[in-house]
Amino acid sequence: MVALRTAVVGTGFIGRVHARSARLAGARLTGVAGSSPEKGRLAAEELGAERAFASGEELVEAEGVDVVHICTPNHLHEPLALKALAAGKHVVLEKPVALDGDGAGRVAAAAATAGRVVTVPFAYRFHPMVREARARVAAGDLGRLRLLHGGYQQDWLLTPDDVNWRVDAARGGPSRAFADIGSHWCDLVEFVSGCRIARLLARTVTAVPERAAVDSAVAFSAPTGDGGDRRPVDTEDAAFVLFETDGGAAGSMLVSQISAGRKNHLWFELDGEHASAAFDQEQAETLWIGRRDRSETVYRDAAHLAPDAARLSWLPAGHAQGYADCFDLFVADAYAAIGGGAPEGLPRIGDGVRAARITDAVLASARTDAWTEVTP
Ligand SMILES: NC(=O)c1ccc[n+]([C@@H]2O[C@H](COP(=O)([O-])OP(=O)(O)OC[C@H]3O[C@@H](n4cnc5c(N)ncnc54)[C@H](O)[C@@H]3O)[C@@H](O)[C@H]2O)c1
Repeated sequence: MVALRTAVVGTGFIGRVHARSARLAGARLTGVAGSSPEKGRLAAEELGAERAFASGEELVEAEGVDVVHICTPNHLHEPLALKALAAGKHVVLEKPVALDGDGAGRVAAAAATAGRVVTVPFAYRFHPMVREARARVAAGDLGRLRLLHGGYQQDWLLTPDDVNWRVDAARGGPSRAFADIGSHWCDLVEFVSGCRIARLLARTVTAVPERAAVDSAVAFSAPTGDGGDRRPVDTEDAAFVLFETDGGAAGSMLVSQISAGRKNHLWFELDGEHASAAFDQEQAETLWIGRRDRSETVYRDAAHLAPDAARLSWLPAGHAQGYADCFDLFVADAYAAIGGGAPEGLPRIGDGVRAARITDAVLASARTDAWTEVTP
């Protein structure tokens, strides 16, 4: 089999994860690009890429590249994806795929016109115990779902000295916490439950109204502010959302980047008429099944899991799989789709559009203080 020729634009936290997963999936890392030619050169050296491109724009149109991974700040996703698709590339496009639902729709339309695959790293779908929960819901083990709840909390933007391009609406988009991590929660819960959020009521909170007037290059780094100049913040630190789904289930979530001690606390619980299921991505080896008479903790053990969960369970039971494994499995399936396959549960551009439309509804609801329909 000929190796796919991959290139990665944006080599911060997640760009490095993409580059590693691409290699593990058997691709050649033909090039990388950063925010300047110098940064691209340094990243190419560090990551062992075949070459550095002078810019993302050059990379996405380059000859000899089959698939482009777009891992830049959010405002560049749509323009780079449109250029890449026009140049005939397949795209692995980070979320949010555009700054709003209309932009996401333009990327989806361009993908359809170009006949190219665009996948979106909603990577938490690739935890085997997430697939186990999904299989149990589909098999009717929980009965009709009544309540969907949970949240996603982090603490890396807790203080006024914590800054990142995400804080700035011009680069991150009009929503920060929700678009950044609430989108993962909605994707995951819709994926597992099979329910779709139809309407919602949202509140956004900006608890840190000013932050350090400096730039930090890489996400999840130590505070980069120095207690000096501050600038006003125009994006939310947290969001509360109540929602109703098309199937009649109701739910709630809390999304926050300012919850001290919570590092990457993505969790959900689905309460059905017979049983409940709960998953916590920081304890991803297990799934809790709640019943009135007898609850249980189900461990990841391929021999006893649904086929789709067993497929992703590549290490023996008790040998923990985690976030990096999810990413590797996602990229492997993305490349399988580029090769003409149809892997189960692969998040594609339609899922990116969906997340952007839900984010639009959250912002609209918070602005108007009213229940808001999510554009289907
Ligand atoms: N799917 C996931 O689980 C996941 C996780 C983290 C981040 N993300 C997404 O990935 C993207 C990047 O986030 P991150 O956490 O890696 O951020 P980051 O700040 O760590 O990295 C961003 C990188 O982009 C580079 N960059 C800035 N301007 C550029 C330009 N014009 N051209 C090329 N590179 C440029 C920066 O120098 C930096 O290296 C975001 O859109 C984010 O939402 C997704």
